[in-house]
Amino acid sequence: EIAKDKNGVGQVLLRSLRGASVRISLHGGQVLSWKTDHGEELLFISSKANFKPPAAVRGGIPICFPQFGNRGSLEQHGFARNRTWLIDENPPPLPPNESNGKTYIDLLLKSSDDDLKIWPHGFEFRLRVALAFDGSLMLTSRIRNVNCKPFSFSIAYHTYFSVSDISEVRVEGLETLDYLDNLCNRERFTEQGDALTFESEVDRVYLSSSDVIAVFDHEKKRTFLIKKEGLPDVVVWNPWEKKSKAIADLGDEEYKHMLCVDGAAIEKPVTLKPGEEWTGKLELSVTPTS
Ligand code: BG6
Repeated sequence: EIAKDKNGVGQVLLRSLRGASVRISLHGGQVLSWKTDHGEELLFISSKANFKPPAAVRGGIPICFPQFGNRGSLEQHGFARNRTWLIDENPPPLPPNESNGKTYIDLLLKSSDDDLKIWPHGFEFRLRVALAFDGSLMLTSRIRNVNCKPFSFSIAYHTYFSVSDISEVRVEGLETLDYLDNLCNRERFTEQGDALTFESEVDRVYLSSSDVIAVFDHEKKRTFLIKKEGLPDVVVWNPWEKKSKAIADLGDEEYKHMLCVDGAAIEKPVTLKPGEEWTGKLELSVTPTS
């Protein structure tokens, strides 16, 4: 299903046979909504979000590429989230072992002449968004070097999970890992706690994590599972009270209802030789917890 929003931006709606859905904007190739079979929204979108391009929308899953944050000369989080992506009308089929009941769409981003002026590396980025029969959401990025010299990039799926109360949320899977703390000039620390809980601003990049992270929402009695491949790092971000007030497209109290946990490749940028392709996969699912 393809439609346009009120700014004329194309959106794609995927629905599973059981009724789960995912809505993707061609602006940024950004997932804006992911709902369960019962119509419950799982991603956070700010009530103050600006849907007018070229701004990135505050919420959902913006793609940070080819730069994460301000680690480079490009705009914050790179330009992919600010560009218009195209739909591939003839996408390659799903591999037979992955096709079981899935619906999917492929979006494409290629470097424009303007992009080449600020980042002189020819690339093709294919983003496959797939919704499985059980409602889980898969994002597969294939990035190819179509240039004649190597280039390096960083990437993050900046996932804004919707949570009922940030003070009641726990993240597991990051124990004992080293992280770079953006609140302390990216200084490196080692995680000491059993699980991560939240009582103030957090802005970290956890390094070389295992491929499964869990986000427990006690009040909602549900757990998000984040499975990833090719994405060694995990960003954890919540702006908390003070920072929220400085973010124009985020309500003052909305930080209580969001948590960003991103599958990412940041600390060691990915390098592609001419003709080479890189694949990074993120799979999100949700289960009830008692
Ligand atoms: C986080 C960064 O991942 O993204 C933060 O580490 C940043 O420093 C946040 O504030 C949001 O970024 P933006 O550009 O979407 O406001």
